[in-house]
Amino acid sequence: MTAAPASDTFSFAVSATSGAARTGIVSTPRGAIRTPAFMPVGTVATVKGLYFDQVRQAGADIVLANTYHLMLRPGAERVARLGGLHTFMGWDGPILTDSGGFQVMSLSSLRKMSEQGVTFRSHVDGALHEMSPERSIEIQGLLGADIQMQLDECVRLPCEDAEAERAMRLSLRWAERSKRAFEAQPKGRALFGIVQGGAVPALRVESARALADMDFPGHSIGGLAVGEPQEVMLAMIETVEPHLPAAKPRYLMGVGTPDDLLEAVARGIDMFDCVMPTRSGRHALAFTRFGRINLKNARHAEDPRPLDEASDCPALRDYSRAYLHHLVRCEEMLGAMLISWANIHYYQQLMAGARAAIAAGRYADYVAETKEGWARGDI
Ligand code: GUN
Repeated sequence: MTAAPASDTFSFAVSATSGAARTGIVSTPRGAIRTPAFMPVGTVATVKGLYFDQVRQAGADIVLANTYHLMLRPGAERVARLGGLHTFMGWDGPILTDSGGFQVMSLSSLRKMSEQGVTFRSHVDGALHEMSPERSIEIQGLLGADIQMQLDECVRLPCEDAEAERAMRLSLRWAERSKRAFEAQPKGRALFGIVQGGAVPALRVESARALADMDFPGHSIGGLAVGEPQEVMLAMIETVEPHLPAAKPRYLMGVGTPDDLLEAVARGIDMFDCVMPTRSGRHALAFTRFGRINLKNARHAEDPRPLDEASDCPALRDYSRAYLHHLVRCEEMLGAMLISWANIHYYQQLMAGARAAIAAGRYADYVAETKEGWARGDI
């Protein structure tokens, strides 16, 4: 009998470290994910304002989609009948889906949590829905997601310790149920457990250890970037990192700014997702190697320079700031599209630079140089 090729299974291999930062490859049957990785968010099966060709060319290996949104529209069963999410949206690389718990908490009304799951009203039409750990996994399976998330409960910070503890323990019980439900799915897909525990170190450690004992192929850190200062978020990452097996990928959910990414990579995080590059793109804010550039600002009205003439991304290189400013002022959709494209490209460049620096054993220097570039600006 010959061993199955590596690409038939989900695996992770670290190829170099620099301090606590690591670079490596997550292998999936749909392709490799170079880490540290930033995953553009495709909430409703589109990375808003971009063609998937642009997402791929920017350097993204994987995109994220949301169980909550897709179960409401167009419905998981419909996506399955249409051949699954990859076929439906025209992206043949890996897809990670979030489980829905976090979006239920932030978007729906009339939520009711119970041991069984969560009942909520749709933010689209007010219809009543139920989501259990088993149903969340079933939906993610129907979508055909390569990396799936357990159903969890995320509390906003600050919160009472007792509340963080209750949600963390419920999330651990849901982790076990999610794992059992996931066993019915085809081989090669992966389910991650999600660390919760608010801003209480002992709860975070307990959560991480319990999930590590359950032997998930990867771990997510949830419940951060939910209202706490960056230093609290970074302290929580430092708290849990030693308890999450080094041989498995670590995914920091919903984070963050370019600075958050650099600091979290320095603390051993491998994967990220955030709406920030595309949402900011729709609000005229560009992230560049010169720092943030707000294209609403009148100082760009007669500036013929592109965002970054040295970039290989057309959105950064081929359009003047004056033109981008004009598009934004006229609320033209091309403005949002170009700035979103530029931002997705910049986030991918930032991670590519991190991977190269870690491989060269000079990650701390890379962080310092990148931050100097943001501070220096371009004028
Ligand atoms: N996205 C950002 N934070 C979270 C979290 O705590 N849980 C889940 N499921 N998704 C998230």
